[in-house]
Amino acid sequence: MSPSHDVVDLIRAKRDGDTLSQEQIDWLINAYTDGTVAEEQMSALAMAILLRGMDRTEIRQWTAAMIATGERMNFSSLTRPDGSRRLTADKHSTGGVGDKITLPLAPLVASYGVPVPQLSGRGLGHTGGTLDKLEAVRGWRAHLSNAEVLHQLDTVGAVICAAGSGLAPADKKLYALRDVTGTVESIPLIASSIMSKKIAEGTDALVLDVKVGAGAFMKNYDDAFELAQTMVALGTDAGVHTTALLTEMDTPLGRTAGNAVEVQESVEVLAGGGPTDVVELTAALAAEMLAGVGLTGVDPLDNLKNGKAMDSWRAMIAAQGGDPDAPLPEPRHQHTLHAPETGTVTRMDAYAVGIAAWRLGAGRARKEDQVQAAAGVRLHAKPGDTVTAGAPLVTLLTDDDQRIQRAEQALAGAIDISEGADTAPATLIKARIAAADI
Ligand code: URA
Repeated sequence: MSPSHDVVDLIRAKRDGDTLSQEQIDWLINAYTDGTVAEEQMSALAMAILLRGMDRTEIRQWTAAMIATGERMNFSSLTRPDGSRRLTADKHSTGGVGDKITLPLAPLVASYGVPVPQLSGRGLGHTGGTLDKLEAVRGWRAHLSNAEVLHQLDTVGAVICAAGSGLAPADKKLYALRDVTGTVESIPLIASSIMSKKIAEGTDALVLDVKVGAGAFMKNYDDAFELAQTMVALGTDAGVHTTALLTEMDTPLGRTAGNAVEVQESVEVLAGGGPTDVVELTAALAAEMLAGVGLTGVDPLDNLKNGKAMDSWRAMIAAQGGDPDAPLPEPRHQHTLHAPETGTVTRMDAYAVGIAAWRLGAGRARKEDQVQAAAGVRLHAKPGDTVTAGAPLVTLLTDDDQRIQRAEQALAGAIDISEGADTAPATLIKARIAAADI
């Protein structure tokens, strides 16, 4: 292919704060995907974008160009007996510690008759991956063909499976480059990366769970708010009904972080119990997804209590070869840390808990690493709880006892206990952003 643009001119233009045209963006994304634009040129451009930003039109065009490099899924064949279309709803979380919400959420929403195509990823670093968690269930299979996804959506309603490599391949290449060039933390690049995959996936409604705090990508509120607004704008411009919740991630979600332990906690939620924060967020996100396809006036807590969401979970697991009744793997080693004093837990650092779970073997440092299904942490107390000196605080779970010391080190200084303090847990849902707000 003979270059129709000089990529160095485009890098200079962005470096100097100019706006790229649609034609320039289309050329650039295609030329990068086919190798005409070199990795070092794209990394310079990514850095220029990180420093200079992109306007709403550029971000939309950049996202569309990335979508156009791959396939688009199409769920329009999902219909009711009267021939009307069944609209699909999906959720994306920007990632947090103990964030197992997809596990109860997908079957919960499907239990109201709304198909949920939840194409997910694996964990890298301190946040866990949905597929890694579900692989703790005996026999469960992450990889489905597009035809299998469609069939399962039609029959069971909920699918959680690996996103195929055919969706937005330009993003796959660019994300790997950003990872090693210090250019991940650009709001336009994060927003276009996430939304290119979600729009290509072809869902009708989408709710974004944008995490903010110590255990999240976005450490401060204003950045998280801007990311949420940018993604809602991208989804809306692409015809996807999109809303976002900004949610607290200073503290881990629920009382477990890891793989099998998070599945177990999710099953508790599906059985009508579970930690209040996990239940609250699951119900709030479900309400957004249901409203996104026009189903208002239902209380998602109903199907958690009456067993319908659990039925949907069992059918979803079984459809992918899993045994919902099989016992979950147990760790070979457990080590409990105890409260050093009596008082109220006032802080539990989500990032430190995520690192501890990761060091215990729940996550991977490189894409090729295996995770341990039974590794993770159990939290016996959370901020707002009162503990007495010597009571269990955190239990570390692993198959490899050599990992315990490093996990314990990660937790040094991560938990504050204060005598006489009366701390209410922080508000979980900090803001809601819809198309009308941008
Ligand atoms: N997740 C993505 O898919 N892309 C990003 O850029 C960041 C998080």
